[in-house]
Amino acid sequence: MPKRRHDMTGDFIRRLFISLFLIYLLKSFGILIALFIFMPLIIELLREFESKPAPPAPRPIPPDLPRQDIREVLRRGLIFDPPTEFYLNTESRIKVGFKNTSSKRLVVNILFDDLERYGEISPNRLRFSLKEGEARYTFVKFVPRKAGRIKAEIKAKSSIFLVRIPVEFKVLEPLREGVEVVVSESEVEKGKINVTSSLKALFSRYEEVEPIGEGGFARVYKARRNDGKIVALKIPYHLTEQAGKIFLREVSVWSQLRHKNIVELYDANIVPVPYIEMEFCGGSLAKLSKPLHWEKIAKLIFEVCEGLKYAHSKDIIHRDLKPSNILLKDDVPKISDWGLSKVVTESRSTTTSFTPLYAAPEQISRSRFGQTDERTDIWQLGVLMYELATGRVPFEGEDFVEIAGKITMEKPVSASAINPDAKPLEPIIMKCLAKRKEERYQSVKELQRDLAELLGGRYRQELGRSVDFSRSAYYAGQLLLLYLRLGDAKEAYKYALDLRRYTRGKIQRELEELIEGLEIRINEGLPVPKELVEKAEIIVHKVSSGFIE
Ligand SMILES: Nc1ncnc2c1ncn2[C@@H]1O[C@H](COP(=O)(O)OP(=O)(O)OP(=O)(O)O)[C@@H](O)[C@H]1O
Ligand SMILES: [Mg+2]
Repeated sequence: MPKRRHDMTGDFIRRLFISLFLIYLLKSFGILIALFIFMPLIIELLREFESKPAPPAPRPIPPDLPRQDIREVLRRGLIFDPPTEFYLNTESRIKVGFKNTSSKRLVVNILFDDLERYGEISPNRLRFSLKEGEARYTFVKFVPRKAGRIKAEIKAKSSIFLVRIPVEFKVLEPLREGVEVVVSESEVEKGKINVTSSLKALFSRYEEVEPIGEGGFARVYKARRNDGKIVALKIPYHLTEQAGKIFLREVSVWSQLRHKNIVELYDANIVPVPYIEMEFCGGSLAKLSKPLHWEKIAKLIFEVCEGLKYAHSKDIIHRDLKPSNILLKDDVPKISDWGLSKVVTESRSTTTSFTPLYAAPEQISRSRFGQTDERTDIWQLGVLMYELATGRVPFEGEDFVEIAGKITMEKPVSASAINPDAKPLEPIIMKCLAKRKEERYQSVKELQRDLAELLGGRYRQELGRSVDFSRSAYYAGQLLLLYLRLGDAKEAYKYALDLRRYTRGKIQRELEELIEGLEIRINEGLPVPKELVEKAEIIVHKVSSGFIE
């Protein structure tokens, strides 16, 4: 190609000289001839130009959106759904997300740094990578540190494009302690929750909130916490000033209690509304169909006694034991509503009728029966056992006066007269229901001893009768646990040896360690520690579920 260009240049110069010479000689006729002389060269040049590869076509515009449109997508796609109100220094959750309305994958960053002027936000930025048409959201936590109207900007960013989206919401002062908090009665409409703003602020921290029950003083909801845990929320309908103070004090007592047979309190506050967040349990003694077999009752109450014994050791008395306050989680009874009886009494309006069905004589007349104490709980366990065994409470009546009269003065119809199967439990129930505290069991442990004797007799009988390997293992395990929980290491040791016969492999080795532990305690006269009981519970559970390696 360069050689050819070189030839063309020489040719051009030659033709130019000839043309100039002819123009000089022939004038205008010479111009005409010169045109002819140049014609082949012009034709060749034109051909060469045509045969040249076409200049590269401008690259097709990528299926990208014009700048203006991406901004629009960012503006339109932002999902920002705060609760209607926030409370000062109180955490709320804000739903934040993005819907990609563009026709390509988009990586969007959402930045909340401007909100940091008003409180703590975490996380303070989010990143979403979204396919065309895809929407995603999550929750950010916000704790406002300034009350009043918040006007801030949220930034949505994708590659070099950034838009600022103004948001506005209100932060209220927290409700003062004692302010009457009225929760709308029409909250639950056809299964849907239509909540007042304060409740909405609380619910914004949870997902899948659904009402599950109502008591005389509060409504209970099931909810999923943002860490995925299912919890129960208990929210009083209203609290008077006095009751608000008691509420805080009493739940702080509950929060000290950590035991397998006590419903765990996770959180409680009076803002944005007074509430309790606690362990979720699937059932309660109130929901069981009655009468129950006496062995089942003795087993349940023995376990309830475990929780009660622990609370009494911390000088905490329940005073409101009744079937609806003993919840069941995987068949394990757990005592709930610690201290709330005081709150209920304080917040109860005069128009609400109060039935003292589970009240002890000393709760009706302090002057005649003295102060309430641990033995008040023992009375209430008596009422509970009576109801589980017969399906009826021992002291029934039309109104407060009639029931109170019977509690303080009358002997109840014997449980076995209503349900003959309740006979073995009757002496225990009647001892709990002695009007004078001094005639009742003096401690939960005493009551447990009698229950253990009854249950132990039954288990021993069953163990002696059983020819079935796994049934025998079950009863030996139950006897071991019974005596361990009573702190009777010698009896427990006997049944641990018995249980060993039904085990093999890893479980047998675990059991042997337990046996060694018991031997040491018996020889040195030491009490049975909690850890040993827990270890035995695991072993017995494995053996009972047929897990014999
Ligand atoms: N932690 C929980 N998990 C699951 N359900 C619960 C929990 N706490 C309470 N419930 C259920 O909510 C309902 C209402 O309970 P709540 O304690 O408010 O009333 P109650 O014990 O029936 O009556 P009272 O108001 O007289 O104590 C009951 O059916 C109870 O079983
Ligand atoms: Mg209750």
